[in-house]
Amino acid sequence: MTDTTALPELALLCRVGFEPDLMDELSAWFAVQGMAASVWSEQPAVVRVRAANGQPGLPDLVFARDLMRVAAELRDLNVKDRVSPISAALRPLQPFSALTVLTPDSEATKPLAPLVGALQARLGELIHPAGRGQAQVWLLAGTHALVGGSPPGAAAAFAGGIPRLKFPREAPSRSTLKLEEAFQVLMNAQERADLLDAGGSAVDLGASPGGWTYQLVARRIQVTAIDNGRMAPALMDSGLVQHLREDGFRYRPPRPVDWLVCDMVEKPGKVAELMVRWLQSGWCKAAVFNLKLPMKKRFDAWNQARAVLQPLQRMGFSVRARQLYHDREELTVAVIPGAQMQLPRLREAAGSRESDRASRSPPPAAAKATRPGKGAGKTAADAARQKSGQRAGQPISGRKTAPAGARKASGGKKSPVPGTRSPRGNRARKR
Ligand SMILES: C[S@@+](CC[C@H](N)C(=O)[O-])C[C@H]1O[C@@H](n2cnc3c(N)ncnc32)[C@H](O)[C@@H]1O
Repeated sequence: MTDTTALPELALLCRVGFEPDLMDELSAWFAVQGMAASVWSEQPAVVRVRAANGQPGLPDLVFARDLMRVAAELRDLNVKDRVSPISAALRPLQPFSALTVLTPDSEATKPLAPLVGALQARLGELIHPAGRGQAQVWLLAGTHALVGGSPPGAAAAFAGGIPRLKFPREAPSRSTLKLEEAFQVLMNAQERADLLDAGGSAVDLGASPGGWTYQLVARRIQVTAIDNGRMAPALMDSGLVQHLREDGFRYRPPRPVDWLVCDMVEKPGKVAELMVRWLQSGWCKAAVFNLKLPMKKRFDAWNQARAVLQPLQRMGFSVRARQLYHDREELTVAVIPGAQMQLPRLREAAGSRESDRASRSPPPAAAKATRPGKGAGKTAADAARQKSGQRAGQPISGRKTAPAGARKASGGKKSPVPGTRSPRGNRARKR
């Protein structure tokens, strides 16, 4: 067994409840690379991974909101002086040009908000304008912090992957923020300037009551809104919206448009197929759409949709997907002409073929995933074995790794990290 204690560690943030999905995604990523990795989560919204070499970037993942390379984990911080040990842990990362202090986005960590503000102000003096990269301090609890950094351009565009967007009071639904965030996060400034210009045209499938149409109209784009439901009267008064009570799956535009946006509640694969039809047929130049995820096996659902979208990449489109901050049980995908910015990178081998390969022949080294409340970790090879009908306990090729600290904490049993549930089911979460 490889001792992964000293291995580089990555910490990632996700939406609460999606830790298993991010762990599945990470396990699949490492399995495809044939790399050993330990993947675990010991508190809501945070997933961690240790691997000998190679780490995914944010563009490789849809369920991660932000990530950092962990330089130090500080437990049992003195509540009277947290600044000194955190400053000491940040010192090896200097000089850095930016510093983010945050707490994971969860109910349990909400009370830490004032402390985050105070630490940001105190630690801010360590920033050097001529430095490089971004230092990060994630306060997991009042006495527990992760300290690390992100190379230039590697961190999320917004701290913690949370853009502070103001809800426009005149917008007809809060959904409007999803499209606004997609434009901010899944497109760069040049693409926004080139593709979201006034005078353009768009079709909005599943448009009622008009939150997404509102975003397009605000940019002076003409919209054909398809939905049996009603559209907000103020939008209709803009003179930029034509409302058609038609079926979004049957509607065909009389002439090509610049944008297709789609927020219909349907199976992800069916929506993905519709998007591919529009883009392949040249009915639109670019698209943003939402994929509603099932309650279980959400990574599998994304993988299936991703396989459907694969031909678009061969056509030169850049396909980017992310569970945005304003998304709930869903993902948002942007398909942009050209490949200036690929989010996430959908490698040729990715998608269902990737998981097929992993399931038929387990990777040389297995990625291990431990989720809160699920006992000892399920490895990528375990998942592969399950799919191929092999029983657990049967020999597999490949190594399993787990951080040595974890083994210590569980008294030599297999729970990979302190604070995760042991095989007996005892959770010892540290706050
Ligand atoms: C989540 S809501 C859309 C909200 C909208 N994007 C907004 O920002 O206000 C989903 C909409 O899809 C519509 N819808 C579902 N299936 C549809 C179909 N086959 N054709 C057209 N509209 C459909 C529903 O009527 C519903 O209004």
